[in-house]
Amino acid sequence: MTVDTNRRRFLQTLAVGSVVHPLLAGRPAAAQSHAGEGLEALWEEVRRQFAFRDERVPMNAANLCPSPRVVAEQVRELTRDIDVDCSFPNRAKFGPLLEKSRAAVAMQLGVTADEIALVRNTSEANNVVNAGIPLAADDEVVVWDQNHPTNNVAWEVRAARYGLAVKKVTTPATPSGVDELIGVFERALTPRTRVLALTHVSNVSGLRLPVRELCEVAHRRGIHVHVDGAQSWGALDVDLRELGCDSFTGSAHKWFMGPKEVGLLYVRADRVEEIWPSIVAPSWGNAVEPRTKGARKFESLGQRDDAALAAVGTTVAFHDRLGMKRIEARVVELATMLKAGLEDAGFELVTPMEPELSGGVAIAVVDSARRGAFVNALYERHGIACAATGGLRICPHVYNTAEHVARAVSGAAALREEPL
Ligand SMILES: Cc1ncc(COP(=O)(O)O)c(C=O)c1O
Repeated sequence: MTVDTNRRRFLQTLAVGSVVHPLLAGRPAAAQSHAGEGLEALWEEVRRQFAFRDERVPMNAANLCPSPRVVAEQVRELTRDIDVDCSFPNRAKFGPLLEKSRAAVAMQLGVTADEIALVRNTSEANNVVNAGIPLAADDEVVVWDQNHPTNNVAWEVRAARYGLAVKKVTTPATPSGVDELIGVFERALTPRTRVLALTHVSNVSGLRLPVRELCEVAHRRGIHVHVDGAQSWGALDVDLRELGCDSFTGSAHKWFMGPKEVGLLYVRADRVEEIWPSIVAPSWGNAVEPRTKGARKFESLGQRDDAALAAVGTTVAFHDRLGMKRIEARVVELATMLKAGLEDAGFELVTPMEPELSGGVAIAVVDSARRGAFVNALYERHGIACAATGGLRICPHVYNTAEHVARAVSGAAALREEPL
């Protein structure tokens, strides 16, 4: 099946009966207003684009998301196509499809295709930057202590191997606002600091860092700002030029709702040449004249899952039907409903309530000794799949409805009173 056929099928699957919902009928994203318009019917329709059963509701977008049918079907069809005919001539179509995916991701993030590498996941993308950025033994890297191990422990491993100072910054558990967060990081920077390694939205607290302001602070001192966007790519309306960071990473299988095991690595054009690739495979060419252009040099990884890479562009098309502004507004709306409901039910929140300090990751305090059993019971008894990371972590996305959120809250409230 061709991509165009898939696109047509996608539009057809968005139809409500024979009528396409007006908001999904191809109005440009820019013309769409924010969510909060009382459009539960639209969100019910979006939910129907996903194959999960209402008895097993995914609310763990920070870890893994389901893909909409149109994306899952394309991966299946293209994989089948390769199994039927894996010749070079039949697979020639995957080069242009990969470039189509790259262009779509670049367009969505407001950057150029040459600045985008489609690697395998955030872990790999973080490690490309970590291992490839030239640093001397007495240079310093400042990291947030809430960074994922791939953007935290990985720097320490490099330091142990080649020498490097790694300084960890701790932010207040309940920051008073953006200014307090900026101040904490600014005070940690020294004349030796070469890299500031951040996370856009933390997977262990849900706290969102003021990345744009931190980039301005760091760039005044010539510091490279690396941002792990695993919890923001696909959840928030990310404009990388506006954000201003030098490198940014993400996983298509998280909030992006794309194919599994595809990752994003953005490296700003003027930083590409300086950063070494971690893996050199045939598409690299030779060290003198690399065949890879721009950030493509970071995805020279040997044989890839071509079907998955092709489906990235289809995922962006799915987002475009809704518009990233609307997706962000819905994610924030659901997360806010969830946090307010949990607070009303007597839970203390780990994640701030304010949208400027949070994204879609919502975490409430549950004693660490009870967390695992709590999360299991929420799944077994109430059909809500979430995680025990940093507390009770529940991450709603556009495929979740107000009923899912209400069920998560009432289930958590009931379990709060029960011995587990
Ligand atoms: C902030 C952050 N970075 C990186 C990762 C790793 O993602 P992946 O396993 O897709 O590489 C995660 C996973 O949860 C994460 O939350």
